[in-house]
Amino acid sequence: MRRYTLIFLLVISVINILAVDKNNFKTCEQASFCKRSRNVQHEKSPFEVNIDTLIVSPNHINVDLSNKHNGQIFVLKLEGIKGNTFHFEIDEKSPLKPRYRVVDALKGEPKYEAIKVTSTGTDITVKCGENKAIIYGAPFKIEFYQNDVLTISANSKAKMHFEHLRRRQDSPPPPENENEHNENEAPVQDQNHEEPGTWEENFKSHHDVKPNGPSAVALDFTYHQANILFGIPEHADSFALKTTVGNGDPYRLYNLDVFEYELNSRMALYGSVPVVYGHGQKSASGIYWQNAAETWVDIAGTASEQNVMESIVSFVAGSRQQDAPSAHFISESGIIDVFVMLGPSPNDAFKQYTALTGSGNLPQMFAIGYHQCRWNYNDQQDVMQVAHKFDEHDIPMDTMWLDIEYTDSKKYFTWDHQKFPNAVEMMKNLTDMGRHLTFIIDPHIKRDSGYFFHNDCTDRGYYIKNKDGKDYEGWCWPGSASYPDFFDPEIRKYYADQYLLENFKENARDTGIWNDMNEPSVFNGPEITMPKDNLHYGGWEHRDVHNLYGQMQLVGTFDGLLRRAQNELRPFILTRAHFSGTQRYAAVWTGDNAAEWGHLEASIPMCLSLSVAGISFCGADIGGFFGNPESELLYRWYQTGAFIPFFRAHAHIDTKRREPWLYPEDVKLIIRDAIRKRYSFLPLWYTMFYEHERSGLPIMRPLLSQYPLDKNVYNIDNQFMLSDKLLIRPVMQKGASKVDVYFPSRNGDKQADIWYDIDDYRKIERVGVESVPVNTYKVPVYQRGGTIIPRKMRIRRSAVLMENDPITLIVAVDSDKRAKGTLYLDDEKSFAYRQGKYLYIEFEFKDGVLSSQLIDETASYTTKVWLERVIIVGLDKVPSSATLRASNNQATQVEIIDATKTAFTIRKPGISFMEPTWSITLNN
Ligand code: NOJ
Repeated sequence: MRRYTLIFLLVISVINILAVDKNNFKTCEQASFCKRSRNVQHEKSPFEVNIDTLIVSPNHINVDLSNKHNGQIFVLKLEGIKGNTFHFEIDEKSPLKPRYRVVDALKGEPKYEAIKVTSTGTDITVKCGENKAIIYGAPFKIEFYQNDVLTISANSKAKMHFEHLRRRQDSPPPPENENEHNENEAPVQDQNHEEPGTWEENFKSHHDVKPNGPSAVALDFTYHQANILFGIPEHADSFALKTTVGNGDPYRLYNLDVFEYELNSRMALYGSVPVVYGHGQKSASGIYWQNAAETWVDIAGTASEQNVMESIVSFVAGSRQQDAPSAHFISESGIIDVFVMLGPSPNDAFKQYTALTGSGNLPQMFAIGYHQCRWNYNDQQDVMQVAHKFDEHDIPMDTMWLDIEYTDSKKYFTWDHQKFPNAVEMMKNLTDMGRHLTFIIDPHIKRDSGYFFHNDCTDRGYYIKNKDGKDYEGWCWPGSASYPDFFDPEIRKYYADQYLLENFKENARDTGIWNDMNEPSVFNGPEITMPKDNLHYGGWEHRDVHNLYGQMQLVGTFDGLLRRAQNELRPFILTRAHFSGTQRYAAVWTGDNAAEWGHLEASIPMCLSLSVAGISFCGADIGGFFGNPESELLYRWYQTGAFIPFFRAHAHIDTKRREPWLYPEDVKLIIRDAIRKRYSFLPLWYTMFYEHERSGLPIMRPLLSQYPLDKNVYNIDNQFMLSDKLLIRPVMQKGASKVDVYFPSRNGDKQADIWYDIDDYRKIERVGVESVPVNTYKVPVYQRGGTIIPRKMRIRRSAVLMENDPITLIVAVDSDKRAKGTLYLDDEKSFAYRQGKYLYIEFEFKDGVLSSQLIDETASYTTKVWLERVIIVGLDKVPSSATLRASNNQATQVEIIDATKTAFTIRKPGISFMEPTWSITLNN
């Protein structure tokens, strides 16, 4: 046993080439509010409902809660929302000053639903549709039932904690019996009796002052029907959350720039989306904890990783019975503001979350293509040379990227004219090639008296202030810098204006924008970010709004890009920081990963967690940001990235150049093949993005979304689905000659779907693991039987240039010899689709007939796109010919070619997709 431990430790130390400096970041023990709240231990919650105060309105109730330990009064508001969702808030009844409520995370006012209320004694029952919430009065807890099944309960572990605001001098004297400590007691004046960190807190050389003392809020949620919990991006960890109680730190949500972040870690990263889902065979549900302050989430009872003590205890006790999993949210300030999403399926829960916070907008087609980035392309010539090389090597590419070095001394909205004497011409040249440019604009502003932006911000008071009311100064790429307060609408408007062509002339109406470092990153700040006692618009402390800062920058950028193109073009923005609702503005990437196999593997659970948290447009730096990838790692990364929504290669300034042709010819060809494969699937990608906007469902999905009954998929991190159509199992191990692919079960037992390998249409119909041989080119990807997928087989230099190319439909039949699919077409760039200028088509194959009809009959679009071929996969017999019938019923014979054991091709039906209905009948 010990030998294995030693070997394990040795292996770990060899693998960990890069290492985060953990000393720069707090543990829960070092964050006083986390420590206080985490240790709350009550047999019985001190909170009770004051039933006499109950007020019932058509959609909500209000009732007071009191804390029996200190007499503080709070107000609970609970309301019903359409689609199996409840919302409740708990705030102080008479706070010393208002407590922060999150703005902008929700896409708008939720759709409330009528409720019916009954109360008996101290308990209140609130019925909403087929669901109900029972509020128990003493001790206080809430149970949420979906269709009479207890799904989620709040405060059933009595962890609720609410620190009321207070004045330092107001604090009451210490309790008479000092041992009778209770957690909500106001801290005492006598320094000897104060818990450290109550009124001020030190971390390294940083001092944080809390003018109104402690202000934490915390609550526990039990997921009664769940086996696993997942969510709360962003962490470089498994998709299923691990038990943290008694097992290290909780997961942390605090937007931070973590240099050389480590894997298998609950440390905070660049973004925070406070949503935790629970899933089990019976149902799925979710909690969205709407709070923008630093938050920690303690997890208990998940089967994925019992802590060692728990497993020993349950083993000795002869039982493996576990409590239902629970999540204990702990935030530093704000109010308790919770959406309870009752599923009951995982997809229902995902849709309930995006019904609240929005789904991602359909991107322009170019943004779904391949992006070529590095820090940095040196100058104009370099950019154009790289773009031309892609053509020379026949590798598709849509967007060239510029990192910070293009600017004049890191002053955003300016160019370095030495390196880029004619940026406008460069952008035009790229456009002429069918390509785009994306450049970086960070939020830190160089404090330089010759810089218009800095002067405007200084003169108009647009910067975030320090606790003394002076412009806050931090250190970032430009050296000394300040940070615009994007929470102020006037400042956001000013900022958005800077993107307009009349203000920023060396710009084009369709460049993409990359908002980086927007956690915000402050090199000399506490934990590499901004002090919490800094002050924002409305007098809010940075403490209250930290996790939202990046998003408020995006609101400005999005507005600027919309107006830059007269509201015609869909903006493309990439952001590093993110929060709930970020999907409405930008794509997200997983930041500064490393050229290591483990980081390639981590990109899947990281993007899956983001996807279920609403952020479908996710990707990781291909090749790894730090370090130089060996050939095999690089091509395996391209092959994986080609099936992940945001597909961009990027690298640190100190790395070797790594454009595909700089590698040996065979490596280049593999990379070329991976990128070309991506392009062949663009019609599917585009349709999936459209359907994501429309339905709110993620594009990249965990297997449990399609196979909720199969417990074996709950902990799979190396496979995922695209929509409900493709199953992907990338090759992510060095030297792999085969990989294990798990084929899931529909009923939790032996009932299998049929799968077809997309490369050779090999049919698989089984539940369980299959070892699949892989050569250097092979990525195991399977199309689910019962689906129809649109592809384009003529690959060009960019997605933009493929606009009018014809479609190939791949019809993969299920056990009833049926299949269904969709295709979405529009102008691929503008908002005209929102005015009905599009075609959304449904295909169905049944009884030997493939038929096509419009889903939205009122929409229309003029397109040159036509049907080039249909490949039918999985039929036992090859037909002799096929008959095409257009909407006027005119019949034409079409040829069958390329028949193999599993597939055949209907050659050139040639029908236009503008034809409202058509069919192809197979003739025996
Ligand atoms: C940090 C980003 O994560 C990275 O992608 C970028 O290259 C550098 N900032 C420089 O802008």
